[in-house]
Amino acid sequence: MRYAISYVSTAIRNLNDQEIKNILASSEKSNNENNITGLLLFSEGNFFQIIEGRKEDINELYKKNRERFQAPQYHQAFPEAHS
Ligand SMILES: Cc1cc2nc3c(=O)[nH]c(=O)nc-3n(C[C@H](O)[C@H](O)[C@H](O)COP(=O)(O)O)c2cc1C
Repeated sequence: MRYAISYVSTAIRNLNDQEIKNILASSEKSNNENNITGLLLFSEGNFFQIIEGRKEDINELYKKNRERFQAPQYHQAFPEAHS
């Protein structure tokens, strides 16, 4: 069963273009290798992301992402299961 989570969060500090590009490039590579699909938007210091894949993989990735550059107090997730 495919499983998806979307969330919005606020970056913990100003991220420069290179840092954003690095996140996107490493995410694309790693997600492809792990059969994860998704979307990542960054604008005005805020992230919006959708990640979809095996439930265990998504929960693990979600936890890992939360620890990177994101302020825990400005984080809202929307879990939703897909058949
Ligand atoms: C907003 C945000 C979204 C991220 N999304 C992904 C993602 O979809 N896939 C991914 O592999 N890493 C993503 N990352 C980076 C991971 O959190 C992590 O830093 C990276 O995978 C390297 O982890 P490792 O050191 O355990 O290999 C994201 C980071 C941020 C800040």
